[in-house]
Amino acid sequence: MMSEDSFAFIIHPIDPQRDVSRKFPTLGKLPVWLIDFLSLFFPPVYISEIRGIQSQANGRFLHGWFIACPLTPKRMMTLPANIVYRKIIQSGRLAERLGAKILGLGAFTSVVGDAGITIARNLDLPVTTGDSYTIAVAVEAIEEAARLLNISLATATVAVVGASGTIGSVCTQLLAGRVAKLILIGRRQDKLEEVATKTKAIHDTDMAITAEMNQLTQANLVITVTSAIDTVIEPQHLRRGAIVCDVARPRDISLQVAQQRPDVLVIEGGMVAVPGEVDFGFNFGFPPGMAYACMAETMALALEQRYECFTLGKDIALSQVLTIDKIATKHGFQLGGFRSFERAITDTEIAQIKAHSQSSETIHHQAKVSSQQPVGSVPL
Ligand SMILES: NC(=O)c1ccc[n+]([C@@H]2O[C@H](COP(=O)([O-])OP(=O)(O)OC[C@H]3O[C@@H](n4cnc5c(N)ncnc54)[C@H](OP(=O)(O)O)[C@@H]3O)[C@@H](O)[C@H]2O)c1
Repeated sequence: MMSEDSFAFIIHPIDPQRDVSRKFPTLGKLPVWLIDFLSLFFPPVYISEIRGIQSQANGRFLHGWFIACPLTPKRMMTLPANIVYRKIIQSGRLAERLGAKILGLGAFTSVVGDAGITIARNLDLPVTTGDSYTIAVAVEAIEEAARLLNISLATATVAVVGASGTIGSVCTQLLAGRVAKLILIGRRQDKLEEVATKTKAIHDTDMAITAEMNQLTQANLVITVTSAIDTVIEPQHLRRGAIVCDVARPRDISLQVAQQRPDVLVIEGGMVAVPGEVDFGFNFGFPPGMAYACMAETMALALEQRYECFTLGKDIALSQVLTIDKIATKHGFQLGGFRSFERAITDTEIAQIKAHSQSSETIHHQAKVSSQQPVGSVPL
């Protein structure tokens, strides 16, 4: 008899105090700088067993485990890549010992260095970053949100912030031909030009590239997916009635947008409803039954019994995105509704945002220049 289908998923603290408190309440009270420092010396942590995921296609059950790599985003992005790899590989070994048949990489564990390639090479189980399904869900979420606010995609200007990145570049390609204009925002012009050329080969959509965050004032819809440690989008960057899908973890969008822009809808990209009566055994901040899209990719591959390194590296093909979307839909994964700044958005709030976006009142916001704003600009 074949042994049970299984997976493991590596998480790590994103908001150091909040997330460390979820497992170790006393440690979570330490100052952030000390958590950052100590995170290098902590071993991988067994978090929980996950049960109850059930395929809607064939009724098969799946179980898994959460494992925490202790490094914080700051540590992940500032330590030499080989030190970070070592810690993630140690976490992967724990997954192997538990009996996982595939390993998913959460948040910055999939961003660092070569995006999973070295990690997979050093482990005996297949590894996937989850980025392919994250792309599919981000684009679906912005489309659904646009529908809710009566914004027609075909006439919309859509900006992708972090368009030079792994996820941003393929989101751009997926949007080509479906929207009126694309604005690609990033810091490296050469990389943005590369993405623009690739995208134009798919569809000759009107396109502009820029390093200026202020160009966001043209966009009706925004997908933001940078690997910045601090926020990059402030209230003054956004057009009246804009919708922003923030896929980045930690968030790209400043809390001030929620406070100062009642006309703007911000949604967290990547929340997916998991099929079955799933018990994660751990509260990672989502409502019951919901997972990040990158977690869902790992689960969907296990339910499909495709124990392979499905998404690895910084170059993702559009075909991979379409394939995982099909597999996930087949097993019953679907867009999990909308959240904004860690809480569910109600219909009343949507109606209020709609009213504010259509009213002629002046929107007041205090200009604050983010410390992580991109520099340099390419004329449009
Ligand atoms: N929600 C989910 O399920 C999910 C799943 C996977 C990943 N993620 C998140 O997605 C994000 C991106 O992942 P990725 O794999 O695409 O990363 P990536 O390949 O490293 O790309 C990141 C992009 O962000 C840009 N960037 C970094 N710092 C910036 C700044 N200060 N200002 C403007 N742009 C900046 C980079 O530009 P340069 O090239 O100029 O540095 C690059 O284009 C991460 O936050 C990750 O945690 C979320």
